[in-house]
Amino acid sequence: MGYLQNGVQSINIPIQPPMKQTSLVTLNDIPKFAKQLANTLKGGEILALIGPLGAGKTTFAKALGKELNIKHKITSPTFTLMHSFAAKLKQGKPATLYHLDLYRTKNFREAKALGLNEFWGQPRTVTLIEWADKIGRHLPKKTKKIIFTGHEK
Ligand SMILES: Nc1ncnc2c1ncn2[C@@H]1O[C@H](COP(=O)(O)OP(=O)(O)O)[C@@H](O)[C@H]1O
Ligand SMILES: [Mg+2]
Repeated sequence: MGYLQNGVQSINIPIQPPMKQTSLVTLNDIPKFAKQLANTLKGGEILALIGPLGAGKTTFAKALGKELNIKHKITSPTFTLMHSFAAKLKQGKPATLYHLDLYRTKNFREAKALGLNEFWGQPRTVTLIEWADKIGRHLPKKTKKIIFTGHEK
């Protein structure tokens, strides 16, 4: 507990830490990280999930889905490219969670064919993009990068 200069005790107001622009996450850290991140989501976030095969990108999508009250089983959209789910943000607002996997897409045009650039960043959406590095230069400035490193060495 801190004190202001005039001796009045300061009040500790819990503030949501802003999410860093880039985070490094190991497989073990995923549940905790997903929980912390879910608490910061207001809608409009775009999260670039980056890392090699097996690093934890889909595992994170599942963990975040659990935090956002998604009852549907979240599986890898490797072949379907995109799944969307009705979600509930921690503040109670409904939102749509978009989960994309660009592993099999060749270019941004193919990603756009999914409608990506029409919904990403919109209020009441949260967009997760596995292999987002493939469209790196097209990602909106506000995109947060989460780099998955797999098992700790
Ligand atoms: N169906 C599964 N059975 C066993 N382990 C799995 C399964 N799916 C994922 N894992 C484990 O979780 C890790 C991360 O997988 P995943 O999140 O699918 O990676 P990514 O989406 O980054 O390719 C894998 O290295 C593996 O150890
Ligand atoms: Mg995956």
